[in-house]
Amino acid sequence: MNIVEQVKNRSIATVDDLKGKKVIVRIDVNTSLGENGTVDPGEDWRILKSYRTIEYLLEREACVILISHIGRDPEESLKPVYEYMKEHFTLGFIPHWDAQVLEHTIENMQHGSVVMLENVRQFDEEKNNNLDYLNNVIAMADYYVNDAFSVSHRNHASVSAITEMLPSYFGLQFADEVTHVAKALDPSKKSVLLLGGAKFGTKIDLLEKLLPQIEYALVGGALANVFLDARGIDVGASFKDDVDISHMVENPKIVLPIDAVDQHGDIISVDEVRKEDMILDIGHATEKVFEKIIDQAEIVVWNGPMGKYEDGYVSGSVAMADALSKSKAFSVTGGGDTATVILEEDLVDDFDFISTGGGAMLDFMVDGTLPAIDALLKNNS
Ligand code: 3PG
Repeated sequence: MNIVEQVKNRSIATVDDLKGKKVIVRIDVNTSLGENGTVDPGEDWRILKSYRTIEYLLEREACVILISHIGRDPEESLKPVYEYMKEHFTLGFIPHWDAQVLEHTIENMQHGSVVMLENVRQFDEEKNNNLDYLNNVIAMADYYVNDAFSVSHRNHASVSAITEMLPSYFGLQFADEVTHVAKALDPSKKSVLLLGGAKFGTKIDLLEKLLPQIEYALVGGALANVFLDARGIDVGASFKDDVDISHMVENPKIVLPIDAVDQHGDIISVDEVRKEDMILDIGHATEKVFEKIIDQAEIVVWNGPMGKYEDGYVSGSVAMADALSKSKAFSVTGGGDTATVILEEDLVDDFDFISTGGGAMLDFMVDGTLPAIDALLKNNS
């Protein structure tokens, strides 16, 4: 059985009687907050994607106990996310992991109610895959559901070790993620990989893995600087990640920018970059080249912006979002910045799938699975 079938077979939708059952649901509502410390409506997409499984459980009168992390600082609180979500559900919040409060609240939950606990990353154990901090909650629960695809590349307690302790299932969003991301890897289709952003990380593994089966890899963002440099083109003062790509630099499937937006907002050819210049976005001629290739593709996987998006160098990414929205290709994207471009351009409905995962989507594409998927399947077969 392939991984998609295994995940679907272990979906919470396969459980018949959920009425009154206490279900711990691990969601990923890790969201960057606006300047006033509240959830910015433009940044709520991950939160919104968590609603389907919660609503499914509520319709079946389960008692839903939500757990999530936010940020990487243990001091960060989920309270602003709770404030946002309670506009949608009747939702309780337990701000402290006080054993008595937890016990009292969870034991007395009404059928079809939801309560949210505070950031699981306040405990060091979470990252060490140690369940000590969660044991009293687990003791009161009947089931565990992982609906947090985007953090399932981490071997953390709330997605991994917990699956040893309770009958465990995947959430509806999780099954959707795996289905769409796996579909984007179909080797029989004419596929194009559109890669951007600043850091190679796992993107290099993805490129290596997919190069034999794809038609083209279109490389923009600061990633392109590494290739341009390796092909002997001076990228001046542009940022470039320190990574060895010498084994694939000459691969003809890798298509690089021919022009760029510099630090003055001017469009220059990549052959005329001076030592003080910085390449900050792809230029219009490159957009045209990339658009033509996208137009011929049957599948496009996009991860990472084409320019320094956070500093306003957005035109290349917007052009790619537009091109993808018009193309007939099956389009899958992932990563926070990439999703933000699509949301800001109001093009969500034109994409086949926007993954909640950045690193998780890349890891799944490279390995065909994730540590938390393996843990859940191994402990619940
Ligand atoms: C993400 O934002 O990609 C996930 O929430 C995982 O967060 P992390 O990279 O801090 O583990």
